[in-house]
Amino acid sequence: MKNNEICEILNIEVPIFQGGMAWVSDSSLAAAVSNAGGLGIIAAGNAPKDWIVDQIRKTKELTNKPFALNIMLLSPFIDDVIDAVIEEKVKIVVTGAGNPGKYFKKLNEAGVKIIPVVPTVSQAVRMVRNDGVVALVAEGAEAGGHIGVTNTMSLIPQIVDAVDVPVIAAGGIADGRGVAAAFCLGAKAVQVGTRFIVADECSVSEEYKEKVIKAKDTSTIVTGSSTGHPVRILKNKFSKLFKKLEDENTSPEELEKLGAGKLRSAVVDGDVDNGSVMAGQIAGMVKKRESCESIINDLLEGYERTIREVYE
Ligand SMILES: Cc1cc2nc3c(=O)[nH]c(=O)nc-3n(C[C@H](O)[C@H](O)[C@H](O)COP(=O)(O)O)c2cc1C
Repeated sequence: MKNNEICEILNIEVPIFQGGMAWVSDSSLAAAVSNAGGLGIIAAGNAPKDWIVDQIRKTKELTNKPFALNIMLLSPFIDDVIDAVIEEKVKIVVTGAGNPGKYFKKLNEAGVKIIPVVPTVSQAVRMVRNDGVVALVAEGAEAGGHIGVTNTMSLIPQIVDAVDVPVIAAGGIADGRGVAAAFCLGAKAVQVGTRFIVADECSVSEEYKEKVIKAKDTSTIVTGSSTGHPVRILKNKFSKLFKKLEDENTSPEELEKLGAGKLRSAVVDGDVDNGSVMAGQIAGMVKKRESCESIINDLLEGYERTIREVYE
């Protein structure tokens, strides 16, 4: 698996991405993953240009290996974010929901490698029509954070069949068996989010890490489907209230207002009761705090062990 097609395109050693996670994945986490041979990804979220430039520079101080920036095309600062990518010479960009339009053109002209995250075959087919798109992250609905409706097991092979760029599988992968399964479905790399939340180098609140570690297989819930922006989070007081208001047909505007700033409350302030604790269904398997290097090594060894067992 090491040094495969994706590794060659991105100049990384191990085809494991740490998913960009708004408020969660900063320079500390991204650099640690890149130093361990994977692809560390800083998440721009809705942050302004100053913060993003600062994080890019800090990452460069912490690692000389490749890393990426995850950008939300719907960010209110999107024009500034694109300028930051080009000015700071970021080489790889992973993009979330939104219209690529003029932004992909600008990134491609600057020689940036673009990797859109997609939840459907139709979006995958649309995205690869843009110059500069070198691969796709196909993210199944098991994932933490904003999600689509199709699960990883069904989504990956359908997207692999529909496009001619390498596909990175995301959603529900947290050990070597998951990595092996993704490769069997045709993926050329994996993107892991939830497991990296509890990494030593991840600067989220202790309360957030504990909530993930205590989670079971049934601990997540999807809120926001009525607003058109479904999000997978861990069940708590906030999710209960949100769900109740959704059931009472509260307007999408009011629900959006209720959700605003709630991820930050959980990540930064440690308010895991009234905040939004985004995590995937695989959280039930994430039990150990360890370094990014240890996580990457475990994923690799587990993958090799699984493949050996399958063929024995
Ligand atoms: C707390 C959290 C925040 C996230 N924020 C983003 C984001 O800003 N942009 C994005 O493209 N994906 C985001 N994701 C999705 C991850 O990048 C990744 O694809 C996903 O976590 C993989 O599934 P897993 O959680 O089952 O490992 C987020 C996920 C989590 C758990």
